[in-house]
Amino acid sequence: MCVEILILTFFLKGGYMTKKNEGSVFDYINDQVNIIDVISSYITLERAGKNHKALCPFHNEKTPSFIVSEEKQLYHCFGCGAAGNAVSFVMHYENLDPIDAVETLAEKYRIDISAFSRSSQSKNTSFDARYYDILKDAAIFFYRNLRLHPDAMAYFQRRGIHLDVIKQFGLGFSSDTWAELLKHLSSKYNALDLEKVGLVIKNKDQERYYDRFRNRVMFPIINPKGKVIGFGGRVLDDSLPKYLNSPETDIFNKSKTLYGLNLAKNSLNEKKQLIIAEGYMDVISLHTHGFKNAVATLGTALTTDHARLMRRYADEIIICYDSDFAGQKAALRSVDVLNGIVDKVKIVVLGENLDPDDYLKKYGAQALKDKIEQAETAMTFKLNHLMHGFNLNDEQQKIEFLSKASLILSEIDNAFEKNFHVERLSHLLGVNKEMIAREVFKEGYNPKTQYGFYDKKKEELIPRIASDKKLFFENQLISHYMHHYKTMTHDQKSMIEQFTFSKELQDVFHFIHDYYQTHDTLNIQTIIENADISVSSHIVKMIHSTETAMDIEHAIANILIMNIDQDITHLTQALKTSENPTDIQKEIQSKRIMKQELTLKMRQRKLKN
Ligand code: GTP
Ligand code: MN
Repeated sequence: MCVEILILTFFLKGGYMTKKNEGSVFDYINDQVNIIDVISSYITLERAGKNHKALCPFHNEKTPSFIVSEEKQLYHCFGCGAAGNAVSFVMHYENLDPIDAVETLAEKYRIDISAFSRSSQSKNTSFDARYYDILKDAAIFFYRNLRLHPDAMAYFQRRGIHLDVIKQFGLGFSSDTWAELLKHLSSKYNALDLEKVGLVIKNKDQERYYDRFRNRVMFPIINPKGKVIGFGGRVLDDSLPKYLNSPETDIFNKSKTLYGLNLAKNSLNEKKQLIIAEGYMDVISLHTHGFKNAVATLGTALTTDHARLMRRYADEIIICYDSDFAGQKAALRSVDVLNGIVDKVKIVVLGENLDPDDYLKKYGAQALKDKIEQAETAMTFKLNHLMHGFNLNDEQQKIEFLSKASLILSEIDNAFEKNFHVERLSHLLGVNKEMIAREVFKEGYNPKTQYGFYDKKKEELIPRIASDKKLFFENQLISHYMHHYKTMTHDQKSMIEQFTFSKELQDVFHFIHDYYQTHDTLNIQTIIENADISVSSHIVKMIHSTETAMDIEHAIANILIMNIDQDITHLTQALKTSENPTDIQKEIQSKRIMKQELTLKMRQRKLKN
């Protein structure tokens, strides 16, 4: 088996580099995708006139204030101010840096971005690049070493893992010696780096290095980009510890890594399901039996980072854990972690204390397929799990179960789903539906229909910008300046430029002013990349909202009058407690005169026009 094939099976890829100027890969991707497709692959969009709306994914809300415009290829949220385009949505939603967001979109929509320059200054520093090289070389070493050890080969054969799977996963073997890998890699790398990636350990007394992994079958852990980032090693017998994992490093973070994702991400079924299991062996066994969409955590509990990582690729997560007590408890925990991050979560309960590997060996692939088909929804699983703790033939325990179940059910947002579970429990327990529904819906229960409902208060969509009259006018002024910069007269421009905006809007105005010193047209991507998030989202919001014709001088006068009114109010307040009332009275008087003059000027101007 030649190295090239091995490298291929690892899906090793180089890093992309992008130019950050006009015609950048960011613009290109934004042009190639439709923001409606992109966003609706993450959240449910509802048509609202020309636009689409949704519950904002970036803050908690009950009524949708997240608006997406197909025409402008932009989104913005009136509630929290989040705003941007397709690439920035993916960045924000997936918590990715810009290049990863671009790559994610390119991969998902099969957009060829190879034309954009790749360069040596990839975002990975040379330090990281050296790490990756070491780990790749180690993986190749372990892989080749496996062939030299019939006992290790026999172990895999015994567990039903054949050559094609060994190749696919790049499985290997670390010999029962102290420094074989160290010796092999020493010609190319220094021991300190080998220690840093966790391949060798320093013996404190003798100041000598030795291999961390010895006499173990080796599972390289490969990230979605095809890079080896760590290893798991399993003993061939029953000795302990059963598994040994690489320690965490800058590039290996267990709580963000899923074993098998490098393969699974390219093998999702049409339902876009990912199966999550607990162990290396489960993943390999699942793949062997045709479930190539399986991944596993690395012996740690599932984290929200894992959840977000899976959501990046999948629409639905199938939890397929060991069916022993610990496994089911872990499944319960994972359901809670996934809740709110992944919409569709189902749980396969295998039974008989089997793990997926055992189950497949005992019952075969079709049986597991059926199990996945009948997998329980998160809520059913939770309720079933709860139910197992009670003896339902005992009235007292039945009541206790019901009150606990009602508590869980009242957390569900969707009234249909709630009613469904109420019906199911009533049927299952032989208890009057009304009794359960009253408990679950409380004041939302309707005795006539015997169903529960939700009475959500309609919150009005009020843009924050408009919450203050003065800010509203100032904002209009800035918006006008931004939209008409190229066509405004010099006088109009300088009138706005000389105006002192409220603190809240100063950054926005200054950004736009500076922007036009070096740019001719509005380019959202450039703005998003260069402005603070609060400034850029404000600008996107302004681009988004309809712009009406305005009389600049009139608007400025209006704002000035409002400023004067505000000052007068403050001064009048101060007057009450002041020791120098005459000074303040004088000031109030002069403000009043200013206001009169302004008002007069505006009237005269109106008459002239
Ligand atoms: P087999 O027993 O070979 O079938 O492996 P498995 O993958 O089914 O392992 P198991 O269900 O016992 O454990 C699930 C996962 O927990 C493993 O794949 C490892 O990631 C992790 N794990 C298990 N035992 C150990 C251990 O002793 N040390 C560490 N660090 N991790 C372990
Ligand atoms: Mn197992």
